[in-house]
Amino acid sequence: MALSDFLAELDALAREATTAMEAASDDESLEAVRVEFLGAKSGRFKHVQKGLGKVDKADKPAAGKRLNEVKNHLAAALESAQAQLANRPAETGDSSGFDPTLPGLRPRLGHLHPITQTIAELTDIMGRLGFTVTEGPEVEDLWHNFEALNIPLEHPARDPLDNFYLATAAADGSPKWLMRSQTSTVQIRVMEKTKPPVRIISLGRVYRPDTADATHYPMFHQIEGLLVDRHVTMADLKSILRLFATSFFEDDVHIRFRPSFFPFTEPSVEVDMSWEGRWIEMGGAGMVDPNVLRAVGYDPEEVTGLAFGLGIERICARRHGVSDIREFYKNDVRFLHQF
Ligand code: FA5
Repeated sequence: MALSDFLAELDALAREATTAMEAASDDESLEAVRVEFLGAKSGRFKHVQKGLGKVDKADKPAAGKRLNEVKNHLAAALESAQAQLANRPAETGDSSGFDPTLPGLRPRLGHLHPITQTIAELTDIMGRLGFTVTEGPEVEDLWHNFEALNIPLEHPARDPLDNFYLATAAADGSPKWLMRSQTSTVQIRVMEKTKPPVRIISLGRVYRPDTADATHYPMFHQIEGLLVDRHVTMADLKSILRLFATSFFEDDVHIRFRPSFFPFTEPSVEVDMSWEGRWIEMGGAGMVDPNVLRAVGYDPEEVTGLAFGLGIERICARRHGVSDIREFYKNDVRFLHQF
């Protein structure tokens, strides 16, 4: 059977069943509709489902997916029709059918996604520490994502397997743009157009072809911080991150710095936070490399800078005790409405 025929049959059934459910005026007739369409043995949905066996093999995944969607849709429609009948005012003989003694129906309101809530809270905390928010583009050029960050042409961080390059190319065929792989790009954008002192944060999406797992997703969010001034030291970096962690988690969070390497900071550290007896890596940080300061026209003899970049999904997961960041992107309202 052609996929289009199968889908048409399925959609027609879905329309007919939804209309019948909405039209059912009492529990018995709704039950009859349920049996006719969703009955386990000889319901019409079962009948259409059997047709899946005849769909061409290549089209089966698409047909199966739609079948599941319709099944879920019908289950939800049935549930809502049942709820509506249950909430009808009792037959009181009052012709208006309105019972003012019943409690009102509370509409289910939506709310901000947990990641958006976290972004707002992080902005608030860092605002109290004197950092203002700056934004940068998600589609970046190679200068801001690499070169100005001291990541030269032959550096492995530029590998096409580690970045989402866009298909547009320069005249010599080399890539010109990519989806930014880190918010550190914004450090450069800010320093290029501002004289020191600088005290900013930038929060936003970044993209990497990482395989999704409990702590990775191919699109995620980072919070970048940059402070450039006279006499800024590693001690300032540690105090700011510690203060930030204790303000946000409001519990006994421990943070630890591990020596690390980033081309744009020297020295560099990896920032870990304690979580249920283990350490989880939250981000990277360090003192802005003099080469980076020079690339944007600052004098490293005059000013020094600290910078950090933390993963917002992991911060949000630790805060709410979510053990797998993929949950944030399944769009399952049963999960999301808990925040
Ligand atoms: C960076 O991206 C540096 N730009 C951080 C930095 C900024 C260093 C300023 C020095 C100065 P890294 O690749 O380690 O570093 O990523 C930082 C954090 O982003 C990680 O610790 C992690 O919390 C988060 N992260 C990285 N990859 C993923 C991913 N695929 N999914 C979710 N979170 C991720």
